[in-house]
Amino acid sequence: MYYPEELIEEIRARNDIVSVISEYVKLQRRGSSYFGLCPFHNEKSPSFSVSPDKQMYYCFGCGAGGNVFTFLQEYENYSFPEALKYLADRAGVELPKEELSQEARRQQDLKTQILNVNKMAAKYFYYQLRSENGKQAMEYLKKRELSPETMKSFGLGYANKYSNDLYLYLKKQGISDELLKESGLMNVDEKRGMYDKFWNRVIFPIMDVNNRVIGFGGRVMGDGKPKYLNSPETKVFDKSRNLYGLNVARTSRKKQFLLCEGYMDVISLHQAGFKNAVASLGTALTTQHAGLLKRYTNEVILTYDSDEAGVRAALRAIPILKAAGISARVLHMDPYKDPDEFIKALGAEAFQERIDQAQNSFLFELSILENQYNLKDPEGKTAFFEKAAEKLLEFDQELERENYIQAVAEKYRISFDSLRRMVNRQAMKGVVKKEREKDREVQKRQQTREDGGRTCQKLLLTWLIEKKGLYDRLKAYLAPSDFTDPLYREVAEKLFEQLKAGEVNPARILSAYEDTERQREVAALFNAHVELDNKHEMEKALGEAVRRILEDSIAFRTQMLDPLDMKGLQALIADKRRLEAMGNLQISLD
Ligand code: CTP
Ligand code: MN
Repeated sequence: MYYPEELIEEIRARNDIVSVISEYVKLQRRGSSYFGLCPFHNEKSPSFSVSPDKQMYYCFGCGAGGNVFTFLQEYENYSFPEALKYLADRAGVELPKEELSQEARRQQDLKTQILNVNKMAAKYFYYQLRSENGKQAMEYLKKRELSPETMKSFGLGYANKYSNDLYLYLKKQGISDELLKESGLMNVDEKRGMYDKFWNRVIFPIMDVNNRVIGFGGRVMGDGKPKYLNSPETKVFDKSRNLYGLNVARTSRKKQFLLCEGYMDVISLHQAGFKNAVASLGTALTTQHAGLLKRYTNEVILTYDSDEAGVRAALRAIPILKAAGISARVLHMDPYKDPDEFIKALGAEAFQERIDQAQNSFLFELSILENQYNLKDPEGKTAFFEKAAEKLLEFDQELERENYIQAVAEKYRISFDSLRRMVNRQAMKGVVKKEREKDREVQKRQQTREDGGRTCQKLLLTWLIEKKGLYDRLKAYLAPSDFTDPLYREVAEKLFEQLKAGEVNPARILSAYEDTERQREVAALFNAHVELDNKHEMEKALGEAVRRILEDSIAFRTQMLDPLDMKGLQALIADKRRLEAMGNLQISLD
């Protein structure tokens, strides 16, 4: 960070979080906090809270959280310096210019500068498409049945026939070669020097969720190769973290999202009224994409091409979505190749029907598996069902597994009982597999125990800021070093310092973390929540939490102890004794 911490804190303190967020979200007071509909995920009843005391926001639905800086970084997609600048202006604080070293400034500004160049290029392409030069391109897009409104809303453009057209234009605007290189708009080679990456192509600007142009795709008109050309990754363009169309789709407020393969599919779906369509561009779906989608939806309909590549892509995407907590269904386009062709041929209503009929992803996976077996042959058929039974075992929950057994039995017209017997037999079979499952179970149990410990640590951190006077009662028992997770420990150290000085200020602690994901994690630490009816229950829970943290701390230190460290060992033994002697800890809340 290039600004002094004091200055950052001053700007934060002079921008009340409730008033800043109120400019974006309608908030209503409930108890000591304000609540509204979360702007970071789709919801019908408010679980987004803003606390004037903590000067933090936290969504109990999706876990988004942070201080006033985090909010602007997440909502406006500002960088930290941008958020700082915005809030400084808002509060009438002047930022010292000389705080940034030249190099730091250059790095900070590079992103802004690339975005700026992209904007200029997008405007230029846009203009060319609508000029005499772009006649042929315009014809092409019209032939593909895009309306002028659609072309406008996606900012479609055209790159002229000459390989230095954009280069000369941007040079005339005073852009340096160095910046052009960083923008990804130019190719550089030793013989030819620098020249346009895109020429004689229809241009699709790629926008981030805040409608900023981060890259481009260009399509040849006709059958040339390569069909599509995309910007390389740059400081502002990370392909694994951006989805084409998300800037519009995220405001569509639809229950589910449509995930398709490319530009034209997204555009024709939007034109047909399906504004919830997005595509991952020039790359397979990643975990980051899935995480991004999860912010807006719990269900994705895969509308990939009906060819072999599309099926493969769907098979890869399903587990990735599942791992992110998104359920997937697969839309069947046959006899058409992709959504664009389908809609042209049968229209939007027919497409909506296909959405409604989209196939459960497990049954889809099974139907693909089916192709590897000859179901006409009894042996092949048995082998297929054995494989299916094995796959059915992957459902841990009994009820869910039973439901799927039933669905599969119905689909393939065999009896429920015989399929269930087969699944049970598969469960007993294969020692290796069982072992593996046992491992998984042990792991799961360990995980649950760990999660429990973390919950206690979180609760305590939250209570320490919410309950005045608690610190004085707890400090004899507990130190920051008792928090086993490194992040929790670090936060505890900062918080204990504040508590000691009598200046509780959790929002300030957040400012120490640059990364918004981290800020979100820390915000969660200060927003733990359990339903407790009365003071007595609360005191009991408190005692249990402290006990649990101390137990975990001792276990953790035992594990980490160097066997030659006698002093450490003695300290540990003393702590263990102290914990035993403590019995059932009662901490009063009066
Ligand atoms: N794609 C790409 N580079 C290629 C081919 C494809 O980046 N050489 C990406 C594009 O985003 C494209 C998507 O993969 O939209 C799907 O490819 P394809 O099915 O071949 O193209 P369509 O979307 O059908 O494009 P069009 O309708 O314009 O032919
Ligand atoms: Mn197509």
